[in-house]
Amino acid sequence: MRITIKVRRFNPEAPKPQPYWQDYTLEVTKTSTVLDALIRIREEVDESLALRCSCRSAICGSCAMRINGHASLACKTKVSAVVDAHNTLTVEPMGNLPVIKDLVVDMTPHWHKVRAVEPWLQPVGPEPQGEYLAPNEAMLHLAGVMNCIMCGACVSDCTVLEVDSNFLGPAALAKAYRFVADPRDGMTKERLAKYNAYGGIWDCTRCYECVQVCPKGVAPMDRIMAMRERAIGMGLKDTYGARHTLAFEELVEHSGRLDELRLPLKTFGYTNIPKLVGLLPIALRALPKQKAPSPFHKPIPEVKSFQTTFRKARQAAETERQAPTSQAHHG
Ligand code: SF4
Ligand code: SF4
Ligand code: FES
Repeated sequence: MRITIKVRRFNPEAPKPQPYWQDYTLEVTKTSTVLDALIRIREEVDESLALRCSCRSAICGSCAMRINGHASLACKTKVSAVVDAHNTLTVEPMGNLPVIKDLVVDMTPHWHKVRAVEPWLQPVGPEPQGEYLAPNEAMLHLAGVMNCIMCGACVSDCTVLEVDSNFLGPAALAKAYRFVADPRDGMTKERLAKYNAYGGIWDCTRCYECVQVCPKGVAPMDRIMAMRERAIGMGLKDTYGARHTLAFEELVEHSGRLDELRLPLKTFGYTNIPKLVGLLPIALRALPKQKAPSPFHKPIPEVKSFQTTFRKARQAAETERQAPTSQAHHG
């Protein structure tokens, strides 16, 4: 199979360093991975091509890069699965991280964020005399998050990190959840209070990119949502994010529909004049397009039955929010 790989290259030592595309055409087999092809290019065609890899088995996480615009592990991606009708594919370095050379990025910002969530157990109480024993179900639940190989694919494609580098990001927050949900950790509320701040759990826009690109099924966005639920359940409600969530629920329960006029008022507070004035330009832009929410709503005929269902669902969610983490004991 003859293919063309378009590689986005960058040489920091060039007189005027600028990224550029370079095409490589080569023969590969049906079972070749993108990493196999890149290694062949480096070994047989162009030894100046820089890339990072180690295990070649989707374990070490070092070969993450953008293939056809989306992050994935080059050693886990078969060429035959990603070439287009002209047997062509594109390869770029990961996004949201500084490029060092060609396909190699600087992971330092990512590691700083992982460290910022304090990814180590912080038990409270007297030092145990023996090992901590945690319930099986709690550890099985955590196994999904512990599958993370820190490849950074989710960081690369996070749509919030593209516009706000202060965001902790999906990998660090998934790591944070690994300790929030660990029954042996005694600092859950303190951790959640910290992750509640600017750049934390409420900054995710739920775009789903991190869930889609993660090669290990860690589902970072779902972990972030779980931490939001826990934060609210532990009484950490004094953030715009938490107030927005609770106001949304309250308004939908009240009338069976979302009152978009009152939602910002309840989220920011009726007396938060600077914030509300800041929303005026959006409202003014929405008006001529007939997108501005109306203050008048027709009542929904079946609203009572909807409310019953809604309250049952909310009760189930409340129970989940307040569910105490299974306690570990000392063996
Ligand atoms: S779901 Fe949230 S964390 Fe995941 S990529 Fe989107 S914005 Fe980033
Ligand atoms: S959560 Fe998934 S995509 Fe993100 S670093 Fe971990 S393994 Fe990679
Ligand atoms: S080389 Fe280790 S994950 Fe690809």
